[in-house]
Amino acid sequence: MTRKFKLILLVAILLIGSNVRADEGMWIPMLLKKYNIEDMQKAGFKLTAEDIYEVNQACLKDAVVGLGREGRPFRHFCTGELVSDEGLMITNHHCGYGAIQSHSTLERDYLKDGFWAMSREEELANEGITASFLIRMADVTDKVLDGVTEDMKEADRQKLIKKHIKAIVEDAEKDTHYRASVKAYFNGNQYFMAVYEIFKDVRLVGAPPSAIGKFGGDTDNWMWPRHTGDFSMFRIYAGKDNKPASYAKDNVPLKPKQSFKISLKGVNQDDFTMVFGYPGTTTEYLTSYALKMMTEVDNPHKIKIRTKKLDLMRADMDASPLVRIQYSAKYAGVANSWKRWQGEIKGLKRLNAIEKKEALEAKFEEWANSTPELKKKYAGILSKMKAYYAEVTPLSLARDYAMEAGFRGAETVGLAGKFKNLSTFKKEDADKVQPEVEKLKKDAVKFYKNFNLPTEKKLLAATLKMYNDNISDEFLPEEIKNIKLKYKGDFEAYAEKAFAKSIFANQEKLEQFLNNYKPSQAKKLSKDPVFVLSNSISFLYGSKIAPAYGKIMNQIDKLQRTYMAGLMEMQPEKVFYPDANSTFRVHYGKVSGYKARNAVQYEHYTTLEGIIEKDNPEIFDYDVPQKLRDLYKSKDFGDYANEKGEMPVCFAATNHTTGGNSGSPVLNANGELIGLNFDRAWEGVMSDLMYDPEICRNVSLDIRYVLFIVDKFAGAGYLLDEMNIVK
Ligand code: ARG
Ligand code: ASP
Repeated sequence: MTRKFKLILLVAILLIGSNVRADEGMWIPMLLKKYNIEDMQKAGFKLTAEDIYEVNQACLKDAVVGLGREGRPFRHFCTGELVSDEGLMITNHHCGYGAIQSHSTLERDYLKDGFWAMSREEELANEGITASFLIRMADVTDKVLDGVTEDMKEADRQKLIKKHIKAIVEDAEKDTHYRASVKAYFNGNQYFMAVYEIFKDVRLVGAPPSAIGKFGGDTDNWMWPRHTGDFSMFRIYAGKDNKPASYAKDNVPLKPKQSFKISLKGVNQDDFTMVFGYPGTTTEYLTSYALKMMTEVDNPHKIKIRTKKLDLMRADMDASPLVRIQYSAKYAGVANSWKRWQGEIKGLKRLNAIEKKEALEAKFEEWANSTPELKKKYAGILSKMKAYYAEVTPLSLARDYAMEAGFRGAETVGLAGKFKNLSTFKKEDADKVQPEVEKLKKDAVKFYKNFNLPTEKKLLAATLKMYNDNISDEFLPEEIKNIKLKYKGDFEAYAEKAFAKSIFANQEKLEQFLNNYKPSQAKKLSKDPVFVLSNSISFLYGSKIAPAYGKIMNQIDKLQRTYMAGLMEMQPEKVFYPDANSTFRVHYGKVSGYKARNAVQYEHYTTLEGIIEKDNPEIFDYDVPQKLRDLYKSKDFGDYANEKGEMPVCFAATNHTTGGNSGSPVLNANGELIGLNFDRAWEGVMSDLMYDPEICRNVSLDIRYVLFIVDKFAGAGYLLDEMNIVK
C-alpha cells in the first residue's frame, strides 16, 4: 500500500467509526437520558434512565459506593455495591486486601485461611476506609468558567477556577452533612459537581482464603480465561440516625436507600450487561505524540526497571517462605502495572493506534485551516504540541527514573525520604521532635515487618546501576555520580558498604537512633549514606526535573484542552464520553468471548472445572483448597450451578472499564446483580488509550460463584438470608 492510500483508508475507517458505538465509553449517569438510553434499550436493557439515576427517588445508583480513604475520599480506589438492606456490601478481594491483611497475624492468618464473622459482633472495624454514595450531580461548567478567557495566562485561569470551585463546594455542602467535589471533564472543557454522603464505619464481614480470592495470583492477573474468586464482604455502619458516623461500637448497620437484587439466571453469549462504578483514569483523546512518548520511551524503560526488580524479588521469594510472605503484596503491586503496560504496548501496535491518531490529526489540521474563525482557534496547535512533546520527553524519562529507580528503586530510599522533616529541626523546634519521632517509629514498624536486607541490597545496587546507565549526566543525581567514581561503577560494593553504615539497615538500628533523637543529631542523619542518596535524588528532582516538566506539561494541558474542544466541534454528530476521572460512570456492553490471536478463540465463561485443571499443590498460585476439590467431586453446587450442571466462575464482556472499576456491580438487562467486575483481559488493556470492541474485555466474577463459596465452602450461608436472591 502506498502511504497516501493507507492514509485515505484510515480516514475512511475513522469516519465509519465516528457514530455512537455500543460497548465503548464510560457514561455520565445524569446524561444517560439524553445520550444513551435509546442505544441501551436497543441493546437489550429493559429499564429506564430514571431507574438508574434519579435524584428524587431511590434508584440503582443508590446501591453503589465508591471506596476511598479518610483524607482523600474522592479518589476512589475501588467500587462496591449493597446487597442487603442491612448495609451488607460486596467488593473484590484485592480491594479488601489491605483490610484483611491488617487484621491478620501469624496465628490468625485471614489472608491464608479466610475470615467469616459468624455474628455482627465479630465484624472487624477498619480505620480510614470510606464508602461514598452519590446523592446528586450537576453541570457547573458555567459557574466554574465564569470570567475565564482564552487569552488568560494558564496560572491565572487555574486560580480563578479554583476560587469558583471552592465557592460552589461550600454552597453545596452548606447546612448538610454531605461532601461535594467538582472535577474537570473533557480536559477542562466541562465541570461537573458530585455530592456524596460519605460513611466512615466500614467493617469486614468475610473473605475467602487467598487460594480462592487470589487464585492464579500474578500468573493469571490481567488474563483470560480466569478463575479467581476475587470478592470480599463488608458492612457499612451508621449512627442511630442512619447518617455517617465515625466508628463507634454501638453504631448500627446502615439502611441503604437501595440494594441490588441478585439473579441466579447467569449469562449467555451476547447478553446485555451493564457496569456501574468509579473508573479512575483513562486518556482516550491523546495525540500521536503523547502515545509515542508513552509507548516508545517511558513505558519500555519503566518495564525494564520493574522486570529487574521483580526478578530479584522473585528469586528471593522462591528461596524462602518468609520472604515470600513479606514480599508478595509488594511484588503484586509492582507487577500489576508492569504487566498492563506490556499488554498495552502490544495492543496499541495491533490497533495501529499511532497511525490512527496521525490520520485523525491530519484531518483535524485540514479542518482547522478551513475557515478564518477555525484558524484563529485551532490552527497550529498540533505542531506546537509536537514540539512540546519533543522537549518534555527527556524530562519525562528522567522523571520516570527518579521515581522507579530512585524513590521506589530500593525501599529504604523512600523510607529515608520521610526523615527529611526531622533533619531540618533546630534547637528551637524541640517540641516538634517527639511527634515526628513517634510518626516515624510507626512507619518503621510497618516497614520492617516486610523487609529483607539481602533483597534490599540487591535492589539498591541494580536500580542505581540502571539509573546510571540510562540517564545522561545532566539529570543524574550528584550522589550517583559520586558513587560511580568512588566505587568504579561497582554498585554492589557500594550497597554493601552503605548498609553496613546506614541506620536504615534494620529496625533495631533505626529505633535506637530515633529513641534518643535530638536536633543536634541531625548531623548524623545528614551523613547517613541512604539518607544522602535519597536527598540527592529529591534535590535533583525538585530543582532540575519537576519545575521544567511541570511548566511544559501546563502548556501541553492547555493545548490538549483546545484540541479536545476542537475534536468535538469537528465531529458534532459524534457523542463523546469524557475520560475516566474517578467519578461515577455507567458502562454497557454484552457478554462475549473473543478471538485472542491466530487460531485461538475464547469462550465467554469459565467454570470450577478450570480450577481443578489448574490445580497443582506445587505451585503456590494454583494450590486448590481440599474442600473445594471435594465440592467439585461431589458436584455439591446447590442452586448455583448453570443449566448444564457446571459451577460457573468468571465471565468476559465488552464493557469499557478501567482501574477503579474493580468491585463494580455487573448487572443484567433487568438491573439485577449477576457479577462483580475485577479485571480486564490482557490483549485488550490498551482500552485505557484506545478501545476495540473486537478484543477489549472486562472480566467479572459470576455472582453464583460468590454465593456458592459463601454458602457451601465457608458455611456462612446465614449471610445469604439477608440478600434478595431471585431465581
Ligand atoms: N489487575 C487487577 C487490577 O488492576 C487486579 C490486581 C490485583 N491482583 C494481583 N494479582 N496483583 O486491579
Ligand atoms: N483490576 C482493576 C481495578 O482494580 C480493574 C481494571 O483495571 O480493569 O480496578
